[in-house]
Amino acid sequence: MKIGIAGLGRLGSRHAQNLRYRVVGVELAAVCSIVPEELAWAREVLGVTKTYDSYDEMLNKADLDAVFLVTSSFEHADQAIKALEKGLHVFTEKPMGVNPEECKRVEDVVSQHAEQVFFIGFVRRFDPSIVYAKKLIDDGAIGEPFLVRTQTVDMDEYADFQVEFVPTSGGIFLDFNVHDIDLTRWLLGSEIRAVYSRGGSYVHKAFGELNDADNTVVLATFDDGKMAVISASRTAFHGHDTHTEITGSKGILKVGITPAKNRVELLDSYGVRQECVRDFYERFQEGFLNEAQDFADCIREGRKPIMTALDGRKATEVGFAMTDSFKQKREVVLS
Ligand code: NAI
Repeated sequence: MKIGIAGLGRLGSRHAQNLRYRVVGVELAAVCSIVPEELAWAREVLGVTKTYDSYDEMLNKADLDAVFLVTSSFEHADQAIKALEKGLHVFTEKPMGVNPEECKRVEDVVSQHAEQVFFIGFVRRFDPSIVYAKKLIDDGAIGEPFLVRTQTVDMDEYADFQVEFVPTSGGIFLDFNVHDIDLTRWLLGSEIRAVYSRGGSYVHKAFGELNDADNTVVLATFDDGKMAVISASRTAFHGHDTHTEITGSKGILKVGITPAKNRVELLDSYGVRQECVRDFYERFQEGFLNEAQDFADCIREGRKPIMTALDGRKATEVGFAMTDSFKQKREVVLS
């Protein structure tokens, strides 16, 4: 199975290494990036010979079965549509699109190519701990789940990079919380009806100048009355602290509440300490490998992925509504 990857940046370089060395049954046949140094890295480090500085050229010239899209978020929708129309299977990083309209276009094209695999990188659905928590919920271990508290929290040292990322990422609600939105919909089995967002630029004024924020909180209410509290931060000093708690009628599940690097504790004159994971990749590296393997397995087995283009559209619609609510300082009800 020949795969071409587009985007070799912070995350794309990791996906490329997984596709080259770890995912079973695939060949990393071509790479594409608009950064020449990244193409040189792919030739020298990964040994990929077919490298392109244009996505269209890769689609037209490389002999591919599938593409892996890890480009800037605003590129995903158009690139996914082009690949689907070429008859290729598509893995796209989140978000599926940066506004509801382009998500709808993707959803329509996906439905016209039902025999091809369309896979959205909602990596948390492939994290072993979250997969286990979902199974416990399905087995009734916490009764009926009705409240999810979930957060995506990045380290302050990445804030300068994140400021540059805002114009292409869709902002903090779409970039950070799109995972939490998908997760709450998946875990509660219900649709978000209304959101009320607050936040601000408490540490880095540059986010405010871009109409974005460095810390946010959202109260989301669901069609059936269930609730979620979804927060985000770009200013943590201790580590990458993304975690989730699910409350049900008979119990509570906590997933990764302490972002420990491992099980080692250091007891010394400062007390009891643990090192933390430092970035999203360290926290979710098993999930990134598992999702890439599942994409390949879906193609080989003719199986549909567990998330659909509808899930991608819903996540973007809610992220968009959260952004609206933040800007207008009022509750936004989804239609
Ligand atoms: P980045 O800015 O480090 O890399 C972007 C890459 O896209 C670069 O290689 C650039 O050359 C390439 N690119 C941009 N436009 C292109 C075009 N028209 N044709 C070909 N290549 C193009 O960004 P990063 O952090 O790697 O993020 C990439 C995507 O991955 C984003 O959509 C982001 O939302 C997503 N992401 C997902 C995460 C997750 O947890 N699932 C975590 C981090 C990023």
